[in-house]
Amino acid sequence: MGAVQARMESALQRFLPASASVPERLHRAMRYAVLGGGKRVRPLLAFAAGELTQADTARLEVVAAAVELIHAYSLAHDDLPCMDNDTLRRGRPTCHVEFDEATALLAGDALQPLAYQLLAEHVVADDPGAQLEMLGILALASGSRGMAGGQAIDLASVGKTLSLPELEFMHIHKTGALIRAAVVLGARCGGALDAKHFARLERYAKTVGLAFQVVDDVLDCAASTATLGKTAGKDAAQAKPTYVSILGLARARALAEELRAEAHAALAPFGATAARLRELADFIVLRRF
Ligand code: IPE
Ligand code: IPE
Ligand code: MG
Ligand code: MG
Ligand code: MG
Repeated sequence: MGAVQARMESALQRFLPASASVPERLHRAMRYAVLGGGKRVRPLLAFAAGELTQADTARLEVVAAAVELIHAYSLAHDDLPCMDNDTLRRGRPTCHVEFDEATALLAGDALQPLAYQLLAEHVVADDPGAQLEMLGILALASGSRGMAGGQAIDLASVGKTLSLPELEFMHIHKTGALIRAAVVLGARCGGALDAKHFARLERYAKTVGLAFQVVDDVLDCAASTATLGKTAGKDAAQAKPTYVSILGLARARALAEELRAEAHAALAPFGATAARLRELADFIVLRRF
């Protein structure tokens, strides 16, 4: 994990505009939102999925960076006063606190197209048609039928009690979609998987994507601000429907464990090449931050 995280830090450094270039303040805010923190779970998943298809690591670096840029933009916007109104992220002031609201909004606006620029300017597939499909996968995962749509449902659900299927739908979109994209894009940097194996990989991706947000809900309730690097207890304070508010802490934890087992089961046909993906399913569920 450490090797991929270090590699991603330097790749993101390179891909982001220099802080000294005009407009400096916007570029500084973009770099602030992306660099120097974060678990880099989505890049780790992309690299791990790439091991299934013997993907070239230079390609993986590009798709992993593209997904992480979208993720960082989603966090900068998620923290804005009009959304979750958070002041702490990755152990530091949120982007709009460090800069200002308009700059945080624009930083997100600019990080998003930078992700697509990377996928347009670097070769990540053997043929241009396949590469165009990869661009489409990221776009779908980020938009109204993916992350942004899930965020809209999240905001519309404040103060409501959702059914379990509604809650799952929200989580699969706001968080699961981008995680699924990281896995699928990583695999697609290498040789093609047959339909049966690809379906298994998608099942894994969907399962860990949901598990990731279930655990995020658990940690919001059960971990401290110091270990999380973001303000604990925010979901309850803001009356967000979460797996903890609907199921309670113990059953939410049990569900995360079930999802971990499901993720492992989905990988059964892959053997040793899926070792990293198995480890990441464990990390996603067992993490403390
Ligand atoms: C937090 O994501 C927001 C969710 C989608 C749950 P991460 O927990 O991956 O945040 P960083 O990137 O490690 O800070
Ligand atoms: C955020 O979910 C999902 C995103 C798309 C950013 P949360 O609002 O629970 O994420 P945190 O807890 O602020 O990181
Ligand atoms: Mg939110
Ligand atoms: Mg939030
Ligand atoms: Mg949360």
